[in-house]
Amino acid sequence: MDGNGRWATSRGWPRLVGHRRGAERVKEIVGSAPGLGIGWLTIYAFSTENWKRSTEEVLGLMSIFARYIEREADRLAAEGVRLRFIGDRSRLDPKLQKLMAGIEERTKGLSRLNLTVAINYGGRNEILRTARRIASDVAAGRLDPEAISEETIEERLDTHELPDPDLVIRTSGETRISNYLLWQSAYAEYEFTPTLWPDFTAEELTSIVERFGGRERRYGAAPA
Ligand code: IPE
Ligand code: MG
Repeated sequence: MDGNGRWATSRGWPRLVGHRRGAERVKEIVGSAPGLGIGWLTIYAFSTENWKRSTEEVLGLMSIFARYIEREADRLAAEGVRLRFIGDRSRLDPKLQKLMAGIEERTKGLSRLNLTVAINYGGRNEILRTARRIASDVAAGRLDPEAISEETIEERLDTHELPDPDLVIRTSGETRISNYLLWQSAYAEYEFTPTLWPDFTAEELTSIVERFGGRERRYGAAPA
């Protein structure tokens, strides 16, 4: 969800205004996903690198996350949305951690849409934490190094309950992956759009999903 800052700055407004508008867009996109056949939607809200921003912006984003959970909980539950979070939570405010755990618990029986929000998430950090878990299993004698497989890793990633993404969309014209779902995106299709996130609509998502439907995915095999 890139481009909130530029969207606001180009209008002479503080960056947080863009983040607030961005959070509004999330509501529309989440609402449109099931109708487009999307059962799993993961959004990148805050990266392990975003702590480098000003204290004001970081705290503002954290309060937007807390408010989103508080204000959207009833609607998400009513719409059958199961909410999960990925990323390293240990550095987040304990109050926010509690809200996150609460809504995960409340929506865990739902499955119309599996919505995952990545907060303090970085693909490298996730792989690093996974490597530590594997190392401690080996050190404790619970795991034979020769028995380590791709599944051993996948079972310990934050995304262990999630399928790999089929399609990754980045807004705002940047053509980087910026540490997003590095392991999981090995065979993902990518779409880059110049649209700033606060201008991203369900209509644009619809046309991207239609285009995705026409792609031939071979996973390394020769064309049929
Ligand atoms: C939103 O857009 C991404 C978040 C970290 C919430 P940005 O804040 O990166 O916006 P730009 O890139 O400055 O326009
Ligand atoms: Mg950005």
